[in-house]
Amino acid sequence: MSNEATRYHEDVHTPTEVANPKAYPPQVVKSYPGAPRHPLPWPPEKSGNRLGRLLADLGGITRSQWLTPLDMLPFTDSFEAIPDDDPLQWLVTRRPTPSGGARYSSEWYVIAGPDSEVPTGVHYYDPARHDLVRLRSGDYRSWVASRPAATVLVQTNVFWRLAAKYGEMYYRLACLESGIQVAHALAVADGTGATARLCFPDADITELLGLDPREEGVHAVVELVPPVPSAFGGPSLTTFPLAAGAHASVLAQSRPDPAPLPIAPAGEGRRISLPHAEPDLPAGTRTRHAAVRGFNGEPMSPGALATILTAYGRQARWDLPANLVEFYCVIADVTGVPAGAYRYLPDRHQLELVSEGDPRQRIREAALAALTQQGARTANLWLLPVGDAEAAEERYGARWYRLQQAAAGAALHRACLAAAAVDVASRIQNDVLTHLLDSWFGLEGRKRSLLMAHFGTEHPAGLRPEFRLTW
Ligand SMILES: Cc1cc2nc3c(=O)[nH]c(=O)nc-3n(C[C@H](O)[C@H](O)[C@H](O)COP(=O)(O)O)c2cc1C
Repeated sequence: MSNEATRYHEDVHTPTEVANPKAYPPQVVKSYPGAPRHPLPWPPEKSGNRLGRLLADLGGITRSQWLTPLDMLPFTDSFEAIPDDDPLQWLVTRRPTPSGGARYSSEWYVIAGPDSEVPTGVHYYDPARHDLVRLRSGDYRSWVASRPAATVLVQTNVFWRLAAKYGEMYYRLACLESGIQVAHALAVADGTGATARLCFPDADITELLGLDPREEGVHAVVELVPPVPSAFGGPSLTTFPLAAGAHASVLAQSRPDPAPLPIAPAGEGRRISLPHAEPDLPAGTRTRHAAVRGFNGEPMSPGALATILTAYGRQARWDLPANLVEFYCVIADVTGVPAGAYRYLPDRHQLELVSEGDPRQRIREAALAALTQQGARTANLWLLPVGDAEAAEERYGARWYRLQQAAAGAALHRACLAAAAVDVASRIQNDVLTHLLDSWFGLEGRKRSLLMAHFGTEHPAGLRPEFRLTW
């Protein structure tokens, strides 16, 4: 229990007061007046420029949505919160990824080498103009890459965009969102050999991008290693397993997998085996959205449950161990699965019962907003990644909090993408006092549940008119 992250983790569960929210500028896109720009082909999906398409699918302004002030009602449950000074309708722009309070505090930078599809240099991706702003020319990849990457993407978070609404809680959301951004990047970067890192020399990369580290944090890098033309293949060597084994062990040693944290002992709860599932995360990126009106309470099929859980517990192609978080969930009205709290065991694709019984009342008591309480009544599945602060701090020192929150955000976002691909609606919610559920889960020591997402059949009034801006 040594560092400031630990104190923050124990103390900050909800937003804190922001004395003067109007002091924060409304812009959510950066500008670099006078800097040279490199246009990317538009529309991104029609061009052969894979990097341009990847950036649009990741950080682009891809959706516009019509809402009215009445859409606030499910959040506030009261007409009083409807603002006097707003017009009767709002046009809001949205991006492919979810974002706390739709503050869109994440940014992407591009570190391009000579084999990249854009000029060599350090660039800011401007989502409003779908172009690159050149900050430096020259090949700076050696500062950010751990592999022979053609291009490296760097994800940052502009803290004040979140602080304006959430006060001290901005850091929690920034860390969660880095995991969400990376999970999304790995889903849309299919075929570019993408891997991510969350442990790197922060100060060097911050300096490379010319950022003020107090205002904007560098949280993740994604390395893209596109394939070279294939050579004519030789005959199979599987008939010489001894030689192949000796060779493979050297390769494995040269790039070891992240070592797991100490393994949590198996529980004694009843186990339920789940049907095999193949989640399609890239397909989910096309339709994912946060359910605006919650769910309609219809039962969920075991196939949908298995698909969502498979994505939830899947190891990402990154530098963090697969068990940095454990995969807890709560279930009600899933055909053939008794209601209760469970731990999902990815290696066995099984659910282990933690606490039996209808969970809805407990979730409702932990939920702060009206929409979240509605979700407690009408969703079928609630996912709550759990992290052990002690084990994470021992491995990662001061960085432990950031990494654990990122792992939680990534796990939930993978689940939301898998859900969207099978027509299950979802919403990530930070307005749930998840620590109130920890004793019910039987969590001990410094284990805590970190965030919640709800899943179910979308409420029929939920879908809002939405216009796709890029496809
Ligand atoms: C970390 C995080 C926390 C969130 N917390 C809440 C929440 O407490 N309540 C809520 O209604 N929505 C929450 N959301 C959902 C966002 O409001 C939603 O993603 C955003 O409005 C953009 O809409 P979209 O997801 O449809 O693109 C959260 C999203 C994220 C990523």
